[in-house]
Amino acid sequence: DKGTYPFYMLKEIDEQPNVMRRLAQVYLSETGEPVISDKLLNSMKQADRIYIVGAGTSYHAGLVGKRLFENLTQTPTEVHISSEFAYEQPILSKKPFFIFLSQSGETADSREVLVNVNAGGHESLTITNVQNSTLSREATYTLLLHAGPEIAVASTKAYTAQIAIEAILAKALGEADNQIVAQRFDVRHQLGLVATGIQAIVDEKKKLEDLAKSSFLKTPNAFYIGRGIDWSVSLEAALKLKEISYVQAEGFASGELKHGTIALIEKGTPVIGLITQEKTAGLTRSNLQETMARGAHIITIVSESLAKPGDDIILPDVDELMSPLLSVVPTQLIAYYTSLNKGLDVDRPRNLAKSVTVE
Ligand code: F6R
Repeated sequence: DKGTYPFYMLKEIDEQPNVMRRLAQVYLSETGEPVISDKLLNSMKQADRIYIVGAGTSYHAGLVGKRLFENLTQTPTEVHISSEFAYEQPILSKKPFFIFLSQSGETADSREVLVNVNAGGHESLTITNVQNSTLSREATYTLLLHAGPEIAVASTKAYTAQIAIEAILAKALGEADNQIVAQRFDVRHQLGLVATGIQAIVDEKKKLEDLAKSSFLKTPNAFYIGRGIDWSVSLEAALKLKEISYVQAEGFASGELKHGTIALIEKGTPVIGLITQEKTAGLTRSNLQETMARGAHIITIVSESLAKPGDDIILPDVDELMSPLLSVVPTQLIAYYTSLNKGLDVDRPRNLAKSVTVE
């Protein structure tokens, strides 16, 4: 039931602080230690490489997961689009471990990979919102997203829940392996900051509606840009804008724009910079300036500690690895309000179904 909300998507965006708190309750002990089964951790500990597989938004959550696993566990991690992996299998390491990300647990492209993984005798984990879904039943292990049903076609709370679980799992695995970075990573504290941080952003949604109205209603195209983990989020931000508001959008590595794509920038093209990582903040700002010099209308979404006068959307500070959990939220709201104010059916965009059960 969507209650007083005009669309499920807005309700689901607003639910994200609670989903973060619920995941901390379900997956962390009273003292803040991850509660993950020994069997799963032992399987993962033996792996020399993690392969994350997913489609669409779940693939994008995997891109963030790669940073979490590599930083906290030092295990090399690859992320693959399921429809590509199934037929262009990469060379596998000696001891691969597979993580399937799927909100529905029914995505045919991802299932095709899992069938092959099982045939190869490899162990796997499905992270899904749906208990007893196909991918859950067929994988060795399952972790549930506990996000509550996601009804809107455009995925929001499942993305943030997937990332939060990846963070908890990476912390658990890193600690099991005595990694100092993992020991120092206070995941409970971080999830608390994330929950209050998301709440602060959704409480200011009027500002994002104004931004959507002033900058996105008329434009045929837009760019989200960033480096590293911000680039990963830019892909998700662009997907959201495309699928519900029909604005042609690209998520782009900000340093790569000048190698060709900057030719698309015209007077008034919105270019939104995501800036949450200290080491690349200055570089992304220079890349934004390059587009501004070609007429772009630049908008910034910036972590508080990196903010400068004139920035547009300021995000509360969290650990840099957790920043996607906050930076994605304004982009979800921009997509929502653009779609809403164009008079579109936000929850049921054209040409799309909630779960994609064909390859
Ligand atoms: C985008 C979206 C899709 C799904 C994709 C995978 O908002 O919802 O891109 O993320 O179809 O679906 P799941 O996660 O159910 O495997």
